[in-house]
Amino acid sequence: MTRRSGPARLVVLVSGAGTNLQALLDACADPAYGARVVAVGADRDGIEGLARAERSGVPTFVLRVRDHADRAAWDAALTDAVASFEPDLVVSAGFMKLAGPSFVARFAGRFVNTHPALLPSFPGMHGAADALAYGVKVTGATLFVVDEGVDTGPIIAQRAVDVADDDDVESLHERIKTVEREMLVDVVGRMSRDGWTINDRRVTIP
Ligand code: GRF
Repeated sequence: MTRRSGPARLVVLVSGAGTNLQALLDACADPAYGARVVAVGADRDGIEGLARAERSGVPTFVLRVRDHADRAAWDAALTDAVASFEPDLVVSAGFMKLAGPSFVARFAGRFVNTHPALLPSFPGMHGAADALAYGVKVTGATLFVVDEGVDTGPIIAQRAVDVADDDDVESLHERIKTVEREMLVDVVGRMSRDGWTINDRRVTIP
């Protein structure tokens, strides 16, 4: 995908602590990074992710599913809200809702999600817990292009993390999140500066 000139416009979607968002905000403080966060959206109020955006002076919006007639209406509202910020890239960073078909179609090829497991293993809401319960020795983080499925889109990047014998879900997820943030900052920066292509399932950043 090619971009307009100037820093890439990122809209970031969050549902919780927002440490991935913070990593992007920190990276964007350097003009050489090539991107800026133009808005942060959430599906709930009162989360640290929104506070992080506000402290950085980034506009925020909250769209709760329950304030809409149905999921399709919420999806349409989310699509309009994000589109109004004219993003080059939409980053789901700990956004705990599945965006619907109209959203995925509107931002096809430029909507990415970070997941705390090595896809296609352990998709869904509990990537770290499911990997630990299965007993794998290596897990990690995946950045992928969102398609209509649940964590099924083309993979952009992955980072591996060893599972320790004494890990619990929290310790494992925290270690995953450390590499997840590094991956997100590295890859979103390269996509922003250099563009990317998607051929079948192969994503290439030149
Ligand atoms: C990340 O591990 C993300 O992949 C998962 O939830 C976590 C969000 O962390 N879905 P944060 O809100 O960015 O701190």
